[in-house]
Amino acid sequence: MKKIYGLMALLALMLVVAACSNSGEKSDGDKKDKGGQASGQVEIFSWWTGAGEEDGLLALIDLFEDEHPDISVENAAVAGGAGTNAKAVLATRMQGNDPPSTFQVHGGEELNKSWVAADKMEPLNDLYEENDWMDKFPEDLIDLVSDDGNIYSVPVNIHRGNPIFYNKKVFEDNGIDVPTTMDEFFAAADKLQEAGITPLALGDKESWTATQIFENVLAAELGVDDYNKLFAGDIAFDDERVVKAAETFGKMLDYINEDHASRNWQDSAQLVASGDAAMINMGDWAVGYFVNDLDLETNVDYGYFTFPGTEGDFGVITDTFGLPKGVDNVDDVKKFLTVLGSVEGQDAFNPLKGSIPARVDADPSKYNDYGKDTIEDFKESRLYPSLAHGSAASEGFLTKANQAVNIFVTQRNVDNFIQALQNAAPDM
Ligand code: GAL
Repeated sequence: MKKIYGLMALLALMLVVAACSNSGEKSDGDKKDKGGQASGQVEIFSWWTGAGEEDGLLALIDLFEDEHPDISVENAAVAGGAGTNAKAVLATRMQGNDPPSTFQVHGGEELNKSWVAADKMEPLNDLYEENDWMDKFPEDLIDLVSDDGNIYSVPVNIHRGNPIFYNKKVFEDNGIDVPTTMDEFFAAADKLQEAGITPLALGDKESWTATQIFENVLAAELGVDDYNKLFAGDIAFDDERVVKAAETFGKMLDYINEDHASRNWQDSAQLVASGDAAMINMGDWAVGYFVNDLDLETNVDYGYFTFPGTEGDFGVITDTFGLPKGVDNVDDVKKFLTVLGSVEGQDAFNPLKGSIPARVDADPSKYNDYGKDTIEDFKESRLYPSLAHGSAASEGFLTKANQAVNIFVTQRNVDNFIQALQNAAPDM
């Protein structure tokens, strides 16, 4: 399975590199192609299928269909957390000039280094102006979807990558207080292990889940400024704090479930829901899953705390949608993006998805206590872009980082891990 994943990741990388190497070609309408849908239709490409993922998207599509009954929607979602499979399919389609009408893409390098750099995206500045959006989205978020003065996509949400969710009853039964430092985390983990409970759930059938833990340890060790410098290439991966982060990450792996490699993120979150495991570091799509799919109650069945060492910091992930060059139904796509960027669109999508609205003027009363807390935290926190979710570095680097993490989880060799990251750094 791991081997298959590795091959797929490699394929994705090759396709993205090939897409980028075409950047000199004209890729707009006059290179007419198989691309796009006829007018009267929009094809929405994402990886939101199944439990914890698709409810928000379906609510957004319903709202769009109510507002535009003359436009039919094709939901072209490809299963696999964090776009593990979808990104490879997308790369093939983009490379073959067969873009979907619009597609899910993370703000940051995934958008800019893959598709904008390859001249595959239309700027959306006019859409932002028409909708008066410039002050409706936080500046930091607009920066993540902009390049050289042009804005290339519309954020539908903000996810947070650095919460740890825990089973409240398990904590109570074992007399555990919410850890605020890494030492307290390890003390709690020891106590839980002695009690026969898996301290930390992991499902790294797709290795991004482990990469996400590592990025949070990195942020805790380096702080936001130096985390950003690391991914800008201004701090080397053999910096002693990165080595320390790798050691801490390795130590955390002493506390995971044995069957981690055969579980996906939902399967591992289930371990926390059932009380077989106590904690999980997962993006807050887990909230959508806990509340809407598993019927858990926030602050009753599950609680949450910030990854130790990252208090006051927000690991930011934003799902966005843009307009690829070469589609025939530009007006229809813009209508969809307009609904997605509206207060109504965001408030239909995000309470179900577990994310908070990207817009600053959405209605907090529509969100549960986790969402309300996160909306407040976002305003006060320093942001660090997620590596595992495509914002901090290019897809080429991420593919290699995921492979390095995958090997590290089994081998636990810090030197090899650091060396692999260093070797990948030129791809950042
Ligand atoms: C992230 C994405 C989230 C969620 C998650 C798990 O990359 O931004 O919206 O879908 O993957 O699949």
